[in-house]
Amino acid sequence: MENTVTVTIDGITVKVKPTATILEAAKAAGVRIPVLCADDKLHPYGSCRICIVEVEKSPRKFTPSCTTPVNDNMSVKTMTPDLAEARKRILELLLNNHPLDCPICDKAGSCQLQDLVHEYGLGPSKFSEKKRTVAPSYHSSVVDREVSRCVLCGKCVRVCREQNAVGELAFTRRGDKSKVSTDFDQPLDCEFCGECIEICPVGALTSKQFKFKGRTWNLERSTSVCNYCGCGCRTSFETRLGRIVRVKSAEKNYLCSKGRFGWDAVHHHDRLTTPLVRVSGELVPATWDEALAMVVTNLNVIKNKKGAGSIGGLGSVRTTNEESYLFQKFMRSVVGTNNVDLLARLKVPKGLNTEFFSGELSKISEHDAVLVLDGEVGEFNPLMGIEIVRAVNRKYKKLVLVNSGFNKFNRLASTVLEYLTPEAALADLVPALKAGGGSDRVREAAAILKDASSVAVIIPARTTAGEFYQIKELLSYLKGVTTYPIVRRSNFQGALDMGVIPGYYPGYEKAGTDATNRLAGVWNAILSETPGLNALEMLAGIKTGKVSALYIMGDDPVGSDKGLKDILNKLEFLVVQDIFLTETAKLADVVLPACSWAEKSGTVTSLERRLQQLSRAEEPLGESKPDWDIIQTLAKKMGGSMHYGTPADILKEIRSTVPLYADLTVGGIWPRERSPLAGADDDLSLWSDTVMKNEVITSDRLLFSSGTMIGRSGEISTLCRTKAEV
Ligand code: FES
Repeated sequence: MENTVTVTIDGITVKVKPTATILEAAKAAGVRIPVLCADDKLHPYGSCRICIVEVEKSPRKFTPSCTTPVNDNMSVKTMTPDLAEARKRILELLLNNHPLDCPICDKAGSCQLQDLVHEYGLGPSKFSEKKRTVAPSYHSSVVDREVSRCVLCGKCVRVCREQNAVGELAFTRRGDKSKVSTDFDQPLDCEFCGECIEICPVGALTSKQFKFKGRTWNLERSTSVCNYCGCGCRTSFETRLGRIVRVKSAEKNYLCSKGRFGWDAVHHHDRLTTPLVRVSGELVPATWDEALAMVVTNLNVIKNKKGAGSIGGLGSVRTTNEESYLFQKFMRSVVGTNNVDLLARLKVPKGLNTEFFSGELSKISEHDAVLVLDGEVGEFNPLMGIEIVRAVNRKYKKLVLVNSGFNKFNRLASTVLEYLTPEAALADLVPALKAGGGSDRVREAAAILKDASSVAVIIPARTTAGEFYQIKELLSYLKGVTTYPIVRRSNFQGALDMGVIPGYYPGYEKAGTDATNRLAGVWNAILSETPGLNALEMLAGIKTGKVSALYIMGDDPVGSDKGLKDILNKLEFLVVQDIFLTETAKLADVVLPACSWAEKSGTVTSLERRLQQLSRAEEPLGESKPDWDIIQTLAKKMGGSMHYGTPADILKEIRSTVPLYADLTVGGIWPRERSPLAGADDDLSLWSDTVMKNEVITSDRLLFSSGTMIGRSGEISTLCRTKAEV
């Protein structure tokens, strides 16, 4: 049984771990103690003293509860007249230098200092000295630093160092000249995650993007999910007058720069607001009826002339599960082909969802050691990167890092294996694990991994077949392994789960088996038993004339690979459904305007296989419609059977047809053992030496780079410029 001690807080007795602080014991007892410098995600610091309590029989009158460990049978009082008076004095001292500029401070309404002063009811100050003023810094493109408002709690310094392993902010100067700043007061040069803004208890660090956009008490909030990578961070959209003005972390966990600031792409002037059709070589605005009629006519003509197999569909990782489900259902049950796929399969590791299933990100730090086979993990999946930092900085676990360059993980690692590719590192590490030997570094890494009773292994975003088999062998020499494949695209897992892949129906049931008959009944359609073409085969088929029409929903292949332009130009008919007039949409015969993820509801599935709920924060822009609505309307016009009122109706059908989702609640994870493909040899990734080999990137740093969405975020573009200028 776990060792515990008994502590009494304001007469309430609780049992807590012997390592707990008084503050943690108070939380366990349901007693609130005011805090300023303490935060669950940081080590105790004890700078503000507002959390003082009285401990019975202690020689000290007051004790800071956030840094004081409990003792067995300790008795604590958290609110006495003396404590209230002492906290008033502390607040008075903090206010001595704090400007009372609340009317123009964006933190007003959510300022911890303001709330505490209100709670303790301070009167006129005894201090008459002039307040200390420190020059503000507005040099960063996203973070404004009103240094005079700083209460020197050090939360920003610590979150940047402890949680992010960046260490951009630090205390500089001494005594009453102390302040938080950067090296030589230079502009910020960091990951620009904005965590320092979120954790600041006052208005010393504020968001430039949000400045003067609204008072916190006038904002409406809706919880949703970030759309920028597979981690699925839960976000809170804050809207004013129906428009998003700020995005924050819904769980007070973490948001990266894209998640926090990149939402402004939904307001970009490139957004499509009406359908477009090609007339005399030009794309011109059209009504929905005109555009959809053109799609119906052309798809039917090509189908009648060349067969349904001459039509292909490329789905999206930016759409919801419901939309992905409907897209493949449309292609299979209405168009009549299994030619449906995701180009994003070119960007995932071989073995994903067969050999390598992701564990829960929050449990990375529960392993004895972490093996990172791709040093860029923090650029692709920032939250995964943060959990690795937490494993080292919070839980003191060992990190073995394979990295070709140098980044923050090098400073955290117990051992760094400097190799140009994971394949080269594994070629030395695997034999060392098997039979010993190797260089000092390799032997050191092998010893750490062999000694660990459990290892979290971060699988690179892209693996060659050779690397795949090397990793499989490596895992066989380790104990308690959990894999964490890097999945760069947001709802890749959901799109796969929903069957946007030629060989599998939703839930990884193989097409051409009993599932065909079962789904034909559910979908009230005749399903083709002809194996579908994958994305690469479709592109090859366009060149040979085998594929004549393509329906692309929410993807921009030409934006990622300019070489695909000539191929798509060979099509007889191209439909693109997207939120922007992308490079691919510019080639289309019909462009259908879709809603952004902020304008619709539905579900997505994170790389952890966790079902998550999107909620609508804004009304659809112009005449844009949710993807599911567009597909349904089109399906009906083509004689299909689709009758959904809301995304919830589609989810209901998914639950009834996809066993993995039958009893999956929002927030729940579907267990890997239930996948029909667990341990199978199937490969859900695609490999090409040419297609999308050299991704177009928009910045010197992958974290700020690329993508249809992020390329149109004004804030992130500014960060790219800032990085270039620093
Ligand atoms: Fe305990 Fe600041 S919250 S000293």
